[in-house]
Amino acid sequence: MPPAKRKSSSSQVVATSPLLVANWKMQLSIDQSLAAVKQLGAKLRPAQLAARVIVCPSFTSLPAVADVIARGPLELGAQDVAWDERGAYTGEVSPLDLRELGVGYVIIGHSERRQLLGETDAMVGRKMISATTHGLMPILCVGETADERRVNRQEMVVSRQLQAAFRSLPPPRAQRRLSIAYEPVWAIGTGQAAEPAAALTMRDFIHQVLVDLYGEGLADNNFRLLYGGSVTADNITDYVQPDAFHGALIGGASLKPLEFFSLIQRVNRAFV
Ligand code: PGA
Repeated sequence: MPPAKRKSSSSQVVATSPLLVANWKMQLSIDQSLAAVKQLGAKLRPAQLAARVIVCPSFTSLPAVADVIARGPLELGAQDVAWDERGAYTGEVSPLDLRELGVGYVIIGHSERRQLLGETDAMVGRKMISATTHGLMPILCVGETADERRVNRQEMVVSRQLQAAFRSLPPPRAQRRLSIAYEPVWAIGTGQAAEPAAALTMRDFIHQVLVDLYGEGLADNNFRLLYGGSVTADNITDYVQPDAFHGALIGGASLKPLEFFSLIQRVNRAFV
């Protein structure tokens, strides 16, 4: 893979710790999730950690994982959240309950939910309000499909997703650092990560949409822009660098604690 284009046209520089988000999807049992956080937690030394590392296990694993990571440097995220607090929503999980468990972050609008479970832009917008209202930091996922990229509609699609997600949201408060993960759908779980230069072009586009929505100050200071899609320990620093993406959303490579640990170490080295 060619080296990442380090300089981008955007003037955006965010002096903040990178965010590494492990999305475990429905891949691990409760026991496996516990074993993974224990193994990872034992290797991480908080004092040497430049990155913030968030693990997002399945809902059913959250309580057990919360217990273990309360004593270490890892932070807790959920993979989804309901758009309402309480009510007749069979199968949904309230933001109040996530908060009670100590969840700090929530992935919203992952393409698997959009594609396989019928989540619409409007639902994503409501979930963004739900999360921010209850003090959960959203990690909003946007990205085009292979077909959409083939006909050069990636910017149109991502712009639509962003507008819908932020339409009803009050301007983010200073230093809230909402995260937006650019995850081209065709790169997720395929082993075909986006070309770093193309991913950075989209990062600049997302930044410009945020400038148009909120102005330069908020766009520069209150958002982390992440990359996701076939990230590995080998390619992570093609994306996550002080003047590139501010973090990554990681599926497959976060399931193996040793690989994930070496990925975290590489990011650490890039930020010290
Ligand atoms: P992947 O998944 O790293 O396995 O491609 C990323 C994601 O779905 O967020």
